[in-house]
Amino acid sequence: MASKVILFLLLALTSVILVQGRGNLSLGNNYGTHLIYHDIHEKAGIPLIKRDEEIVVNTVGNELIRAIVVQDLKGDGESYIKRGGLGQKNVTIKLKSARGSGYKFLVDVYGI
Ligand SMILES: *[C@@H]1O[C@H](CO)[C@@H](O)[C@H](O)[C@H]1NC(C)=O
Ligand SMILES: *[C@@H]1O[C@H](CO)[C@@H](O)[C@H](O)[C@H]1NC(C)=O
Repeated sequence: MASKVILFLLLALTSVILVQGRGNLSLGNNYGTHLIYHDIHEKAGIPLIKRDEEIVVNTVGNELIRAIVVQDLKGDGESYIKRGGLGQKNVTIKLKSARGSGYKFLVDVYGI
């Protein structure tokens, strides 16, 4: 009985950690690259609604994307790569808030 309770608590704890960790994204290595995009994206919360946004970053000339870092400054959002990405000339990043909440993300993209 007690072990079931402990197991349940462990599962609940892990899912909280997983949910909180969905907003941060770090892909690739920015060594020797330069910053091609650096911006804060912020939206206010609307009751019952999930706010979201897609950001498209394009490189210039023959540059390719080498690293993508998204920081969830508010802590309860979600971010993922929708199209493009490392080794390509563009990337589409999806940013999402929790339901009823706003978001604040810092997005950095590095190219070479
Ligand atoms: C996500 O990144 C932010 C900003 O760097 C940091 O404060 C926060 O602890 C990170 N969250 C997780 C779950 O790693
Ligand atoms: C992204 O790059 C691919 C080729 O690498 C191109 O086909 C596509 O149209 C580009 N998308 C955007 C949104 O610029």
